[in-house]
Order: sequence, then C-alpha cells, then structure tokens
Amino acid sequence: MNNINIEEIVKEATLQIKDANLESIENIKVKYLGKNGILTQILKSLSNYSIEDKKRIGSITNKAKNDIENEIELKKETLKKAMLEEKMQKEKLDYSSNFYFPFPKGSFHPIIQAIEDISSVFKSLGFSIAQGPEIETEWYNFEALNISGNHPARDTQDTFYLDGAKELLRTHTSPGQIHVMEKQKPPIRVIVPGKVYRNEASDATHFSTFHQIEGLAVDENITFVDLKAVLSDFIHKFFGPSVGIRFRPSHFQFTEPSSEVDVQCIFCKGKGCNVCKNSGWVEILGCGMVHPNVLKAVNYDSEKYTGYAFGIGVERVTMFKHGIDDIRLFFENDLRFLKQF
Ligand code: PHE
Repeated sequence: MNNINIEEIVKEATLQIKDANLESIENIKVKYLGKNGILTQILKSLSNYSIEDKKRIGSITNKAKNDIENEIELKKETLKKAMLEEKMQKEKLDYSSNFYFPFPKGSFHPIIQAIEDISSVFKSLGFSIAQGPEIETEWYNFEALNISGNHPARDTQDTFYLDGAKELLRTHTSPGQIHVMEKQKPPIRVIVPGKVYRNEASDATHFSTFHQIEGLAVDENITFVDLKAVLSDFIHKFFGPSVGIRFRPSHFQFTEPSSEVDVQCIFCKGKGCNVCKNSGWVEILGCGMVHPNVLKAVNYDSEKYTGYAFGIGVERVTMFKHGIDDIRLFFENDLRFLKQF
C-alpha cells in the first residue's frame, strides 16, 4: 500500500462529503471511519507490514482519518445551520403582509351602541357615569326607594330572588341612585346604565333581562323645570330636533310628582301606525322629583336638597328608533339581525 492510495481515498471522501446531506453524511462516516470502514481496514492490516511501513502508513492513515472526521463534522455543522435557517424562514410571520384572517370583523351589539349614544348625550350635559351591582339586597332595590314590604312592586312574581331570599337580581337601575348618594354629597349629576331582571313571561315587548339607564340629579333648588329641560334636550338630540314630547302624570314610589315621557312616533309623525300601535306616541321612560323619603334614606337633608330621577328603557328606545318589533331579537344572537347595526 502506498501514500497515493490514501491520498486518493481522502480526495474521494472529500468530494462525497461536499455533496452530502444530513442523512448521507452518516453513511460516509461509516464507510470511511466505521468499524469496518476503509481507513479502519487499512489500520487493521498494518500488522502485515514492516515496522517502518507500519509507522509511515499508520501515521498518514491516522492523519487521513482525522482530516475526514473533521471535514464530516464541519459539514454536519453547516448542514444543521442551513436547516435551522430554512425552518426559521418558513415559520417567520410577516406582520406587514395582508394575510388572510379567518374571522369576520365584529361590531358592537345594538344595545351597547345605544347605551354609548345615550351616555354621550348625558355626558355632554354634565352627567358622569356610575355602575351599580346586578345582585342587590331588598334595601337597595326596594326599601331605600320607599317601596315598603307590602307594595305590589315587591310581588315575588316580578323578582328573581337568590338563595335564602336575602339577595335578588335588581329589577331596575334605581338602586344605583342609592349607591351613588351613599358615596357622594350633592351636587350630583350621574347616569347609571346596566342590566336589570324581571321574572316575567316573555313576548314581543317583555323579556326577563333588559337594560335601563338611570339618571339622577340632586342639588339645591332643582325643580321639575330642570328635569323637563334635560330630558327634552336628550330626546331631541337622540331622536331629532323636531320630535314631539309628552309628559304624562304617573306614579313611582321613589319620585313625587312622577311622570312618564312619550315621544311622538317618528315613523308616522303621530298619525298612528303599527310601531306606535296607532296611538301616535311611544313611551320611553319614567321620571319624577326624588321623593323626600329617598333623600332621608341616605341621610341627605331633604329640606335643603331636591332632585330629579329618570329611568330610560334602552331596548324600548332602540326598538323605537330602528322600528324593531320584537325585544327577543336582541337576545337571540342571530347574526342576520345583528349585522344590520
Ligand atoms: N325604576 C323605574 C322603572 O323601572 C323607572 C324610573 C326611574 C322612574 C327613575 C322614575 C325615576 O320603571
């Protein structure tokens, strides 16, 4: 065996290594350096040679082994790096590209939109916004609002009582008035939007869950004129500047005097149609001057302060504004309905 042979072997191996991939490189390693590999075989066969040849051939073969081993390791490194880079390239997200987003863009529910619109009108009139809990005690939902234990509004039919009947789902947002007055001293100008619950059978105009926006103003010298002015302003901003408004005497335990407010039908201009059930008017809210007993319940001086309160039915105004004839549509999550807003 001479040197040329080994040089040839290294040359051949180098060529093969150059073209190898991560799989074939392992075979190349076995072929040249493995237990029965070409170079290993040469080293094994050295026993047949003279001491001099053994030394000479042994040293070049070992050098060749080292060289090939180094080349293989180097190539492996390069291949692994390339593979990683390719993988990173593939997985890289291009945030600037207009890629396909599989979900349609949503929008606000019409009730949320209405709450936003109404709130922004009252914000522009100097009202702030507060929240009250949906689970209330009888004190907040009834007693503090001058509704005693035997008042018909306390009828268990109307109220969802929770375990032990100590707590209930609020039947209106009016308990929000009490929470605000407990925390603040007059002057107060606040609205409290939120969900309310009533245990009643559902039909086109009734549902167990709906939304109200409570309003409350308490200060010195507040009169019914302030109430009329603020509500008229709201109605004209929300339904249009020329719409007719009617204050109709009514009764609520927590206001005195009390009134309901009707808006002239925007569809038939008061002539009568199916939206206004031929009356020409649609009722949208209840209101009145805060009852002195309510002011007393929160330790306000009812001689010094007066105030007004109102409660807007959000579904009601939204149904009226858009000519929707069934309240249940708001709660069915039917996209064919919701997409129109
Ligand atoms: N809470 C009353 C209702 O739910 C509405 C209302 C609020 C009336 C404030 C007067 C004052 O019917």
